[in-house]
Parts: sequence; structure tokens; C-alpha cells
Amino acid sequence: MNKNNSSLAIQAIDLYKGYNTGPQKVDVIKGLNLEIKKGDVAIITGPSGVGKSTLLHVLGLLDNPDRGEIKIGGKNIANMDEQKIAKLRNETIGFVFQFHHLLPEFTALENVLMPAMIYNKEKETREYALHLLDLVGLSHRLAHKPRELSGGAQQRVAVARAIVNKPQIVLADEPTGNLDRANGDSLFNLLLKLNNEMGQTLLIVTHNDHMTAKATHLIELEDGRVLKEEFPRKV
Ligand SMILES: Nc1ncnc2c1ncn2[C@@H]1O[C@H](COP(=O)(O)OP(=O)(O)O)[C@@H](O)[C@H]1O
Ligand SMILES: [Mg+2]
Repeated sequence: MNKNNSSLAIQAIDLYKGYNTGPQKVDVIKGLNLEIKKGDVAIITGPSGVGKSTLLHVLGLLDNPDRGEIKIGGKNIANMDEQKIAKLRNETIGFVFQFHHLLPEFTALENVLMPAMIYNKEKETREYALHLLDLVGLSHRLAHKPRELSGGAQQRVAVARAIVNKPQIVLADEPTGNLDRANGDSLFNLLLKLNNEMGQTLLIVTHNDHMTAKATHLIELEDGRVLKEEFPRKV
């Protein structure tokens, strides 16, 4: 097929990933193929243990596949060394996980600025970080440490941190898993807003029907592969 790859944010081609736990390796992802378009709101569903988190880690370049190809923005990572992969990951991908790992000794604002500090861009990013914290309803909590914030507020700080460098791709693994309905919905609305305004590609593992209703691309996993795909609306 002669496809224009520049329209794709993520491609997985015949992907395999397993774990060595006992005496032998257990495959989790088994020959998976997937294409996520730029600007997609892609939602992954599937039963617990099917490999959703494993897939997100591999597609997010946090973990190497055992075999198969991954392309990010058309770039094949098989041709890159560790350093190049890390650079691509840091510049292109933001992560929102259920357990958000905020740094406890830093304030909300400092946590959000952390990814910018790595690039010595703290100063020029400060205003945007303040804007994001305002968007997530935390402008009055800038100097609070994580332990002084509710679970929902901590999660929203983590979202602001994940997107402060304006990554083209945001990966989220059950981001509302430990939030109540209202906080979960406001987090989704924030992600959708980013998708709308900045064209960020979203790839989200969730069973939240509010989010599923907004998807452009629904992906159901079973037995290490894509069982079913639907495209309910255009990107
Ligand atoms: N680091 C790991 N080491 C060994 N086995 C793992 C590891 N991570 C996940 N697994 C196993 O891989 C399978 C898929 O896990 P996971 O990707 O977390 O699924 P899901 O996110 O869909 O619940 C499960 O059987 C899980 O026990
Ligand atoms: Mg999981």
C-alpha cells in the first residue's frame, strides 16, 4: 500500500513484546499492527492483563519491543541509538499515568516545570506552566507540595507536567483510574482541548464512556493484537 506516512503519528508493524518471568518468555503483544493518525483521539480498550500498558510503554519508547517496527512521526526507531530514541521521546511524547510520580519535595509549579528544566527552558516556559495550572483549576495551589493536594489535583498537576513541553503525542494509561467522575471528566476535557487547539495526538487507555464518545479511533485489544477498530468520527 502506498500510504502517505507523514499523516501518521504512530505506527506499529508486526510488534512483539513479552516478559521473562519464569523459565520461559511469555509473549504479551503478539504481532500487533496499528496506525495512529496525527490529531487522532485514539482510545484503547481491552480486558485487564491483555497488554494495554505494555503496548503504551513500547509505543512511548519507554521499553524496547522484542521484534517488529515502531515509527514515530514516520521515523523508524530501529535506525536510532538509545540517545536518539531518548531525544525523540523527550521532545515528542508526553505521558500521563495513573500513578503520577510527582516529586514530593517540589511544589506544583516546580513539578510542572521539571520537563522544561531539563532543557534549561524554565524561564521561558514559566508563563505557559502557569497558564496550564490555571486551565486545570490550580492557579491557587502553585506553591503547594503534592502531599498538600488532593488525589485529583495531583493528577491534574501531572497532566500539566506531561504537556508543558507541548509534545505532539500524549499517551495516557487509565488517567482517571483513581479520580471521581467530576475530576475524571475535567481531565478528559483538558486533553480534548489540547487536541482541538494544538492538534496533539492522543492515545489513551480508558474505559470511561465520556471519553470513548469523543474518540476518532477506537481500538480493542485481544490476545496481544488488535481485535477490532472503529473510526466513529474524522480527525
Ligand atoms: N514488568 C513485567 N514483568 C513481567 N510481567 C509483566 C510485566 N508487566 C506486565 N506483565 C504481564 O503482562 C501481561 C499484560 O500486562 P499489562 O500490559 O499491564 O496489561 P493491561 O494494562 O492490559 O492490564 C500481564 O499478564 C502482566 O502480568
Ligand atoms: Mg494497565
